[in-house]
Amino acid sequence: MTVTIVGSQLGDEGKGRVVDLYGDAADVVVRYQGGDNAGHTVVHDGETYKLSLVPSGAVRGKVGVLGNGCVVNPETLFDELDVLRERGLDPDVRVAERAHVILPYHRVLDGIEEDEKEDLAAGTTKRGIGPTYEDKVGRRGVRVGDLLDPEALRERLEYVVPQKKALAEDVFGIETDEAFDVDHLFETCREYGERLADENMTVDAGTYLQRRVDEGDAVMLEGAQGTSLDIDHGVYPYVTSSNPTAGGASVGSGLGPGVIGGGEIVGIVKAYLSRVGTGPLPTELGGVEGQTPDYDPADADDEEEELATYIRDEGGEYGTVTGRPRRVGWLDVPMLRHAARASSFTGLAVNHVDVLAGLDEVKVGHSYEFDGEEILTPPPTTEKWGRCEATFETFDGWPDVDWTEVADEGYEAIPENARAYLEYLADELDVPIYCVGVGPGREQTVVLEDPFE
Ligand code: GDP
Ligand code: IMO
Ligand code: MG
Repeated sequence: MTVTIVGSQLGDEGKGRVVDLYGDAADVVVRYQGGDNAGHTVVHDGETYKLSLVPSGAVRGKVGVLGNGCVVNPETLFDELDVLRERGLDPDVRVAERAHVILPYHRVLDGIEEDEKEDLAAGTTKRGIGPTYEDKVGRRGVRVGDLLDPEALRERLEYVVPQKKALAEDVFGIETDEAFDVDHLFETCREYGERLADENMTVDAGTYLQRRVDEGDAVMLEGAQGTSLDIDHGVYPYVTSSNPTAGGASVGSGLGPGVIGGGEIVGIVKAYLSRVGTGPLPTELGGVEGQTPDYDPADADDEEEELATYIRDEGGEYGTVTGRPRRVGWLDVPMLRHAARASSFTGLAVNHVDVLAGLDEVKVGHSYEFDGEEILTPPPTTEKWGRCEATFETFDGWPDVDWTEVADEGYEAIPENARAYLEYLADELDVPIYCVGVGPGREQTVVLEDPFE
């Protein structure tokens, strides 16, 4: 059977920790989209692992697969594997031959295009994700299988690289280096191919995964990013270039929709909102310069900014690399209704309930007011979404308690007001709660249901 883990908001909902939580029963953990733009955290036994491309099951020693829907930078994959091995893990990762390869010029172009786009920039991770998916769809990409086939590789590079070079030099006016040189890229790619072959890392992923399912193995599919960052269902153009929603798990792994849909699909929810990047956020608290649209700190509401800072600090909502504050807000229920529908959630994991503890009251954006009408789901264009005003419902706050003890004792030990909040959410989305995160560690979870059982 399969269990698919899907981010229901804007990324960083705690997907990695839920993969780890339920991962004991899994035999294989598969990433089906995205690349090293993801950062999934697993905290166990005093160790914190930040996984970027390697599926989070590696912490429990599970086989990892990077499906055909992923974009893979072999450089960062090898670095990550080396670091994990130095830390004593023994990751076994297979890469789909159909997955596309992020090459050095993709990263350069990601950076340039972000600078050019100004107001339309999503604030990407500059890992080359968008440009690589563009080449995939434009049918000029280099795939993992090509790294093992020198003739095919050279043919592809000779076709595409001069175009990229012309784009960089003639359209964007930058001086190019070896990142745009066919011979250099060919050598680099051959080295990647040799290491992949030496370590026996490539696989026909769909066939392999179906065989594992047929043999009765448990397969977990680990989504990256989140529903509102989905290229089709998110806040376009402030999105990533793949489909984190559950349909992507089928297309991006090679397991049919009947297999994915026949299993469980768990939506991961952060008990509030966080956002790295631009685009509308009707339940945002305060703002962050350079990310919140039309934000002027001089007009800011002090009380709201204080609350935002409190949640940001308690939740550690600062960029892991840059230290930049992330945007934060109250839970956006229209966004979640949209996510539950788009991915057919069968269960919910609600994380970060501990972060909101100690507040007098906790709000949720229950619906939006849009052009004088109440709507329960987001409108289809981002411009319309930007005109929505959230209508809030208020819950009494819950106290800060010993959350590890709560996790030990179970659901009834969660403070009553927090339970009321969780039950409201399950009712609104018509999806049962499978687990509640009350701290980052593996044991700091209240488990109501194990989707593998
Ligand atoms: P992902 O990208 O969805 O896997 O999420 P990230 O790992 O990027 O971000 C989630 C952050 O919150 C990480 O630092 C986690 O260790 C932490 N975290 C996850 N669940 C909880 C929770 O229930 N409570 C608290 N306090 N932190 C959590
Ligand atoms: P995980 O898997 C949060 C955001 C970027 C940017 C937009 C596009 O850890 O939840 P990209 O580099 O993908 O072209 O950037 O998407 N973004 C994420 N935000 N968590 C992530 O991954 C993200 N991956 C991309 O900030 O706004
Ligand atoms: Mg993350």
